Amino acid sequence: MEVENRYVAVRHHVEGSPSESDFELITAATPVRWTPESGEVLVKNLYLSVDPYQLNRMKRHSASHLAVDVIVPGERIAAYGAGEVVASGCAEYEAGDIVAGVLAWEDYTLFRPSPAVLMSKVDASDDFPLSYHIGVLGTSGMTAYGGFYEVCKPKKGETVFVSAASGSVGSLVGQFAKLHGCYVVGCAGTQAKVDLLKDKLGFDDAFNYREEPDLKAALKRRFPDGIDIYFENVGGEMLEAALANMNAYGRVAVCGVIAEYTDPGRRAVPDLLEVVYKRITLRGFFAYDYITRFHEFVGIIGGWIREGKIQVVEDVSNGLESVPSAFAALFRGENVGKKLVKLA
Ligand SMILES: NC(=O)c1ccc[n+]([C@@H]2O[C@H](COP(=O)([O-])OP(=O)(O)OC[C@H]3O[C@@H](n4cnc5c(N)ncnc54)[C@H](OP(=O)(O)O)[C@@H]3O)[C@@H](O)[C@H]2O)c1
Repeated sequence: MEVENRYVAVRHHVEGSPSESDFELITAATPVRWTPESGEVLVKNLYLSVDPYQLNRMKRHSASHLAVDVIVPGERIAAYGAGEVVASGCAEYEAGDIVAGVLAWEDYTLFRPSPAVLMSKVDASDDFPLSYHIGVLGTSGMTAYGGFYEVCKPKKGETVFVSAASGSVGSLVGQFAKLHGCYVVGCAGTQAKVDLLKDKLGFDDAFNYREEPDLKAALKRRFPDGIDIYFENVGGEMLEAALANMNAYGRVAVCGVIAEYTDPGRRAVPDLLEVVYKRITLRGFFAYDYITRFHEFVGIIGGWIREGKIQVVEDVSNGLESVPSAFAALFRGENVGKKLVKLA
């Protein structure tokens, strides 16, 4: 049997903020073979992730310093996701298995299991919603856990600032910091998100950065005694303002700089003398740095969810055709929590 497969591709390289018109939904010229060849596994995709880093891959000249492949217009776009194995030519997988890992923005994905392919089976006894395996129990959880605990090395009582705090990674980092006994302030781009951070996610304080453009002063007001840890998701002037308010021996986990993805003109110009005098550590990291500890991290986070210590915030769009708008929404600040697309 053969079935039609549709996928989302970029029409051209994307510079600046993405919009829906940068994408097209393509019906693949070759239908999916229902009988995979030996060593192949066919997955019907059920949930797909949209992630800010994908924009960097859509730019014309992005790959040199980013250690990721450039996405070619018209071709499939790899993305984290979850799905059901519908046919398998490989002993490790059988029809009906639920998997989470690197799939693509398409209806069906054919993959060849290998140590280089990030894919794991979701335990049949698992009682979490499948969507959790893409966000909180997937790469967002691994990013937040690795970035906060391994990079920031927090101590109880320290002060923590999180930018893009209502997003997928930020909402988890802030909650981890509270669980760890830290004082936590987050920023986000709407009052509704600020209310969520304070009222539902337990942040000590939060503010709308769009309404307080003097970011240095906004942070000074929230951290009169300085910031010990800054979890950096935004870049630009947010980083400059945070550095100006850091304490001696402060740590900055540079997770991402989303404001700079759409506007390279907003690149941060950090005051490095500030870094020198205060002995600040700035450290970038990748979620995949912690891949060998993935199960350990998500096991801990899963336990916290069960105990009611972590609230999971998701924002789900429906249908493969909604992938472009779901992706563009990330850069307009329209998502709250982990942005996902549900296919079936
Ligand atoms: N190092 C890694 O391995 C790794 C892994 C995953 C993610 N990341 C990075 O972590 C950051 C957050 O990713 P995520 O997946 O959790 O996305 P997310 O926070 O769920 O969504 C993006 C959010 O960023 C904020 N934003 C967008 N444009 C902005 C701008 N110009 N200025 C300030 N804020 C802006 C928006 O919220 P508000 O404007 O309302 O705050 C938006 O909702 C990104 O920088 C991403 O690249 C890194």
